[in-house]
Amino acid sequence: MRSSMARKGPESSPAERLLAWYDVHARVLPWRARPGEVADPYRVWLSEIMLQQTTVQAVKAYFEKFVGLWPSVEALAAAPLDDVLKAWAGLGYYARARNLHACAREVAARFNGRFPQAEADLRTLPGIGPYTAGAIAAIAFGGRHAAVDGNVERVISRLHAIETPLPDSKPEIRAHAQALVPEERAGDFAQAMMDLGATICTPKSPNCLICPWAGDCRGRSTGLAPSLPRKKAKKQVPTRRGTAFWIERADGAVLLRRRPEKGLLGGMMEVPSTAWADEPAGEPPLKAEWRVLPGKVHHTFTHFHLELDVWRAIALADGEILEDGDYRWTAREDLPGEALPTVMRKVVAHVLGEG
Ligand code: ADE
Repeated sequence: MRSSMARKGPESSPAERLLAWYDVHARVLPWRARPGEVADPYRVWLSEIMLQQTTVQAVKAYFEKFVGLWPSVEALAAAPLDDVLKAWAGLGYYARARNLHACAREVAARFNGRFPQAEADLRTLPGIGPYTAGAIAAIAFGGRHAAVDGNVERVISRLHAIETPLPDSKPEIRAHAQALVPEERAGDFAQAMMDLGATICTPKSPNCLICPWAGDCRGRSTGLAPSLPRKKAKKQVPTRRGTAFWIERADGAVLLRRRPEKGLLGGMMEVPSTAWADEPAGEPPLKAEWRVLPGKVHHTFTHFHLELDVWRAIALADGEILEDGDYRWTAREDLPGEALPTVMRKVVAHVLGEG
């Protein structure tokens, strides 16, 4: 909802100044309600889950695909989990897809297909933490909640020149963010903060000259803005190593395996590989004449870098699988539609690029 009441004069509040800026500069995004339209909680929730660890640019196409396939929370709840994992493949952080599906089922079963409006009820649902609950309560239902993600932490740290490093400064940032939320248009306010962080109050060189909060910002007046927020030094990310085994039959089908439900990339498909450990160890799942491909596949997860060697072989006619596991032969042309996470798409590209 937009109001023509927002005044930009010196007597207006910071929230009014930000909303007046948002009325002119809001980004057009596929999940946003158009001016005067009421936001659809399903679209708000779906977009917020996708945006949890992923950029707006990457999310757009996936969002369109999901609402095309499943236009309502009931439709998503009725879909097989495997279809949801397939549609999610490439977005990363796959626990989100499993929680998305579980959440849709709970909304359908416990709440009659309607998302609850209260932040506390939203937090009881799978995949909805404090940030996402605040964002949905504000954007879909106009509740007076702040939605504090990394962008908003940056904006608030600068606005108040908070020099305490993250994460210690989180409670202070939260309190400031909550105090700023206006009575009216809390959803627009939350999104305006996100847009300000994404387009003006950017990490490296904030564009303070055109910022609606330039006159309010202690980071700007003290010259500290570009160096905020401060962050505690992170631990070094370790490197793990493993070997992926690409095995194909004479008809071109490739052996895939489903990962265990629990844990990293739970329930996603993979080219069978050894455990990922400090040093590579483990056996191929099949007896065959293995050829080590030149080069390695690199991928970075949140907590470690991964380096994979790739071995390739043609399955022998009697090449039975040696290990237990959920194995499946998949035709080459079906690989793009499989629930293969990005690291495994890199393995596929590495092998197929080899010629
Ligand atoms: N990041 C997280 N939620 C967002 C939203 N609703 N709009 C833009 N960026 C976001």
